[in-house]
Amino acid sequence: MAHFPKPAEGSWTEHFGLDTAPVSYADSTSPEFYAREQEAIFKRTWLNVGRVEQLRRKGAYFTKEIDAAGASVIVVKAGDEVRAFHNICRHRGNKLVWQDYPREETSGTCRQFTCKYHGWRYDLEGALTFVQQQSEFFDLDMAKFGLAPVRCEVWEGFIFVNFDADAPPLREYMGRLGAGIEGYPFEKFTQVHKYRAEVGSNWKLFIDAFMEFYHAPVLHAKQATDEESRKLQGYGYEALAYDVDGPHALVSSWGGMAPPKDLAMVKPIEQVLRSGLFGVWEGPDIGELPPGLNPSGHKAWGEDSFLFFPNFMILVWKPNWYLTYHYWPTSYNTHIFEGTLYFVPPTNAYERLQQELAVVTFKEYALQDGNTLEATQTMIESRFVEEFPLCDQEVMLRHLHTTARRYVDDHERSTATPVQISAAS
Ligand code: FES
Ligand SMILES: [Fe+2]
Repeated sequence: MAHFPKPAEGSWTEHFGLDTAPVSYADSTSPEFYAREQEAIFKRTWLNVGRVEQLRRKGAYFTKEIDAAGASVIVVKAGDEVRAFHNICRHRGNKLVWQDYPREETSGTCRQFTCKYHGWRYDLEGALTFVQQQSEFFDLDMAKFGLAPVRCEVWEGFIFVNFDADAPPLREYMGRLGAGIEGYPFEKFTQVHKYRAEVGSNWKLFIDAFMEFYHAPVLHAKQATDEESRKLQGYGYEALAYDVDGPHALVSSWGGMAPPKDLAMVKPIEQVLRSGLFGVWEGPDIGELPPGLNPSGHKAWGEDSFLFFPNFMILVWKPNWYLTYHYWPTSYNTHIFEGTLYFVPPTNAYERLQQELAVVTFKEYALQDGNTLEATQTMIESRFVEEFPLCDQEVMLRHLHTTARRYVDDHERSTATPVQISAAS
């Protein structure tokens, strides 16, 4: 187990080479900066769009709307491979795959994709296979009108796409933090519960809320019994470890609530179901954990939150289940949040209820976290105050905002053609 103590001197913030001055949130209130992030970040980094379990059979597909890159993508199982294509018909540009509403995501299984407009068809490899009234066209070379491919790679069963032909391979991008959790049996966790919310804040603000737990004893005070809550506020919060690798980040946190030291610390329903925020107290046996988990080797370890830049988080919990977050920007001050919980399938009704208690407890916490976001966004947009002091337990927020600015700066320096977008009217 890697030894990963808090730096003996100084702070995590200084340890990671970040400065300690107040941080500007102008990167979260500006349509112009968002347009630059779209070019420099969302069109250039690996974006997780799903898992291989969603595409078990040949011909299984789903679509993903990626507003931040101005794209809609079809992800399909073609033979043994997962492929991705731009969701656009090569005839006259109709969206190829959609159900009742063109902007809604969909999924299903098919042998080929047929355009609703004039009936052109494409096979699962993207080749154009049928043109209605082909003889009316002028020397149409069907081989030149296949679906436009999107780079698509799979890491540990997670399917990613990337709109940049020059981006490094996915595994290289996932770096040391990704390598540290390779081998975790993600494929065993097929009992999936998903929440989706349209949130009125910049995408980075919700990541901020999940990359620090400094808020937890205060914002989530009502989740514990009164006495326990007072104690938690007295202790405050200190993470077991933080780590950074390039744009990616990790917060390693203590647990202690699965099971709690004293049953009286938790609510009656948690006592009955032996479950709660940290999951089912007695989770399944999944063997030895990969070395990247619990990097401090602490016995009170409870959970690790990995942020794979820009918008994908994996949270691995000690009682053997995991959670993912996705943040899909739709404008500078709106995004879609997805929270997905993954469990080993329950074997009886009691286990199902145990998992459901974890699921609804998560929702309660996420609603409390989400509640602050619009309140924060509206106020930072007033721009009466623009800089904010971040403490050492908020080090990963500083890292995130620094990384976003660095991507924008580096990209613009390399292309020397900054995107000019006027402020929203
Ligand atoms: S736009 Fe698709 S067949 Fe015409
Ligand atoms: Fe929270």
